Amino acid sequence: MEATDIGDDLETVLITEEQISERLSEMAAQIDRDYVGKEILLVGVLRGAVMVMADLSRKIHSPLEMDWMAVSSYGAGTKSSGVVRILKDLDSDIQGRHVLIVEDIIDSGLTLSWLYANLTQRGAASVKIATLLRKPDAAKVHVDVSYVGFDIPNEFVVGYGLDYAGRYRHLSSVGTLAPHVYGG
Ligand code: IMP
Ligand code: MG
Repeated sequence: MEATDIGDDLETVLITEEQISERLSEMAAQIDRDYVGKEILLVGVLRGAVMVMADLSRKIHSPLEMDWMAVSSYGAGTKSSGVVRILKDLDSDIQGRHVLIVEDIIDSGLTLSWLYANLTQRGAASVKIATLLRKPDAAKVHVDVSYVGFDIPNEFVVGYGLDYAGRYRHLSSVGTLAPHVYGG
């Protein structure tokens, strides 16, 4: 759906569909340059990264496979609980594989620093991270992110896979919600 379908629940469109597409093309080109002669295992983090995975992967020319993990660090609200649980583990053995984690957003960085350590311990040949969005707080936790789409302000955003209480994932752009949506 488009921003106009949401009406006044949406405050601003931060990043348009076209901007996302252009940036993902640049990231894919960089990934192709970095993984010459290597086969990539893209690990998407469900559910938010579904759109990034679908669009980024189709712009990559190198051979790759996809796998998925589901972890939970948030409840239904807008703040990280700091507790990471595996809800769905990988189907593949990643021993010796070149793993590229694909995320929608890094906020506190807690989820990714935990995931990075977890996948590294399983004997991957390499583990790198690609994220469409990154918020300023991510700098507080040491996570080495190789590919970042956009650095955004510390606001809660929805769209392009990102939800608020399960909604707005299918918005084509990324935007901020109007305060009355939180207030109820
Ligand atoms: P972190 O552990 O704080 O970095 O949180 C990462 C996860 O929280 C992301 O993968 C998202 O699922 C969710 N998240 C963080 N910020 C936002 C946001 O602004 N909108 C929607 N989901 C978010
Ligand atoms: Mg996520």
